[in-house]
Amino acid sequence: MKIFIDTADVNEIRKANELGVVSGVTTNPSLVAKSGRSFTEVLKEIVDIVDGPVSAEVMSDDAEGMLKEAEPLLAISEQITIKVPMTLEGLKAVHRFSQQGVPTNVTLVFSANQALVAARAGAAYVSPFLGRLDDINHDGIQLIEDIAHIFSLHDIDTQIIAASVRHPLHVTQAASAGAHIATMPFKVLEQLVKHPLTDQGIERFKRDWEEAQGR
Ligand code: E4P
Repeated sequence: MKIFIDTADVNEIRKANELGVVSGVTTNPSLVAKSGRSFTEVLKEIVDIVDGPVSAEVMSDDAEGMLKEAEPLLAISEQITIKVPMTLEGLKAVHRFSQQGVPTNVTLVFSANQALVAARAGAAYVSPFLGRLDDINHDGIQLIEDIAHIFSLHDIDTQIIAASVRHPLHVTQAASAGAHIATMPFKVLEQLVKHPLTDQGIERFKRDWEEAQGR
């Protein structure tokens, strides 16, 4: 499973990229709003930092609007993937984008049927939202497992991005459920590295080493 970072904060993206584990970036309108910067400006910086796909979401309600809105985004870089909401108009747009060879990431996916139709419309990626399902007492990981099973049974090559990842356990579970990618906030990426026994081990090695130096 690959790791994407889910943020529009370029400082976080830079720090994550230095670790050498990040294969792509996802953004969403809330994350861009939080950055307080212009969307195109942020995207230009992101594609310079990360060598991989960068999802940029369109906001129009209709397919025509989505296609138009995508033009300046696609002009930024070949790395841009157009993130499209899971609606009937969104599917129409995904179909048109795929005919033009433009990769899409269908977002706000909450059921296996939504993932299936998005894939059939030509989506390069589907993004089931784990955390938001868990929030309403549904099993987000089970959804990833169902989508992975259906895609493999029917030879569908659309990639599953486990999204709305809230903690490290989601990452482990998404990987074993068959997600191709997990996109996560920088904080979760940092948590993947941390283990109390690693910290204790480092402390003990240091102590023993210093004691030995003093002898
Ligand atoms: C993914 O592409 C979305 O940007 C993101 O994972 C949403 O996460 P949230 O549910 O924590 O807002």
